[in-house]
Amino acid sequence: MKILEPLRVRDVTLNNRVVMAPMITNLATPEGYPSEEMIAYFVRRRSVGLMITEYTYVNKMDARGSPNQLGLYHDELIPKFARLTEAVHNVGSKIFVQLVHVGRKTRRNLIWGNEVIAPSDIPLIEPVKVMTKDDINRVIDDFVKASERAEKSGFDGIELHGAHGYLIAQFLSPATNKRDDEYRDGVLFLEEILTEIRRVVSIPVGLRISATEFDPLGLTPDLVGKVISRVKDKLDYVHISAGRDGPLGGSSSFYYKRPSYLEEARIIRDYVKDLPLFLVGSVTTVEEADKVLEIADAVVLGRQILADPDWVVKVKEGKPTRYCIRCNQLCRLLSTREVRCDVNPELGWEILPPMEKGEGLVRVVGGGLSGLEASRVLSLRGFQVELYEISDKLGGEVNEYRDPYKKMEFGRILHYYERELKRLGVKVRLSSTTEDADLVMIPTESQPKFTQYKGVRILVDSNVYAYQDYVFEWVKYNEVYVTDNIFKGLDRNRAYLLREKYKELGVRFEKPDKVEVIIRDIRREQPSIGKAISKGYWNARSFKK
Ligand SMILES: Cc1cc2nc3c(=O)[nH]c(=O)nc-3n(C[C@H](O)[C@H](O)[C@H](O)COP(=O)(O)O)c2cc1C
Ligand code: SF4
Repeated sequence: MKILEPLRVRDVTLNNRVVMAPMITNLATPEGYPSEEMIAYFVRRRSVGLMITEYTYVNKMDARGSPNQLGLYHDELIPKFARLTEAVHNVGSKIFVQLVHVGRKTRRNLIWGNEVIAPSDIPLIEPVKVMTKDDINRVIDDFVKASERAEKSGFDGIELHGAHGYLIAQFLSPATNKRDDEYRDGVLFLEEILTEIRRVVSIPVGLRISATEFDPLGLTPDLVGKVISRVKDKLDYVHISAGRDGPLGGSSSFYYKRPSYLEEARIIRDYVKDLPLFLVGSVTTVEEADKVLEIADAVVLGRQILADPDWVVKVKEGKPTRYCIRCNQLCRLLSTREVRCDVNPELGWEILPPMEKGEGLVRVVGGGLSGLEASRVLSLRGFQVELYEISDKLGGEVNEYRDPYKKMEFGRILHYYERELKRLGVKVRLSSTTEDADLVMIPTESQPKFTQYKGVRILVDSNVYAYQDYVFEWVKYNEVYVTDNIFKGLDRNRAYLLREKYKELGVRFEKPDKVEVIIRDIRREQPSIGKAISKGYWNARSFKK
């Protein structure tokens, strides 16, 4: 298998070609160093050939983009970061740090009340101060010092975050760089950073860059190819991603998979023949990973490695992998929460001790997601498990979806559980129940049931997931209007793409004059895949016979 072959990046050998994408987690301490929870999170993902940390700010002045983000802004943090690299090396993997200055992509309250800086006066969130030559020199120096600290901390390499519209990209992109001095040539800023970093560190240095910014005036694959050609003698690898500030870009939700990402990578490959190329793009299966490796040297997995930390081992051993369903729910709630995953309740809790062993028969009642997850966990703990489901199929509400995209992507959860429970020897009893249940996993809350309408006007003013779905069905036979509430609670990528799907189907967004059916239902809490799976997991984890 190509993904399992080693890869050399300068003088660092990766055990395999699967790279864990840089992902912000909220697991760092407020001071910016790795917490024990973060160290456990990385150690748990040791089977990848390389981990790249989340974006890590380079100064404690104006470089930060999120709370509880990693920051390599002071020498006294070196021993704290060294604890992370030591832990990763102890389990046989490698780790690079991703360094960032966020430029205009932040707010003052995140950067200790200082001014937001950018190459040009093109604000994004708050007003910006245009960088002077002194600011430029200062930030170059910040990158250099952070790089020195990275090497001293034991990182195996450095990745400069030049993608997703952060400061380096703000210089590189013609859409955000309108300077009238020599830095109008945006590559100059990157070149100077690389030259200076090269002077002080000997570990590999790579660049993450967006192949496209989804803007004809911004970065395009050809332009990116030219940028790389200019700096490639200072780089040890290139990591291709996508996007600037809009909803399109990296973490695409299940409504869309951008087929062109392979084509864009092919264009850039022509410019990067002799450098290792990393490519990211919603990869969840080994078949997709193989396609990536036809063009690139390493496949980068983001959310899939959150959903299943053992993805590499399972692929190697032919075991079922737990798919990331690209729901963009719990992993994207980062403004108020640590990173979590709807299908993997252990994400963020890797620090907990291993589950206690158990023995004997356990009868689980309820074959929805909670019961499926509980059966899996009990079986892993050593119990013999019988799972009783009153209907003739497993999955409960997963079988009720009307949104075809959700049906397809979320249906894969069932595919996983069916294969995994079979492998674990769980005995599934369909169309049956038992009086002697040890664990009852029947949902206590459920989504509203579907009602069919024909030839009427319907107004949906609701944030309930089920109604988002039913719109797909109703619009076939009715005039359907939705309010903005329908998109509430969805991350911006999923909200944007759902709106696009609705537009294609003829769903209307203006206020209707007269309607026959009004659905008005705004909820603070509602059932979700994450809650159902989490309930099964935690009940089974603490279950005592
Ligand atoms: C929770 C989360 C946090 C992310 N944080 C970062 C980050 O710190 N730096 C970065 O370059 N990309 C970040 N990304 C983008 C990912 O690295 C990756 O490009 C994107 O998720 C697409 O890969 P995937 O489809 O395999 O998830 C983040 C994505 C997610 C889901
Ligand atoms: S929350 Fe959803 S999108 Fe995020 S990693 Fe988990 S399954 Fe994937």
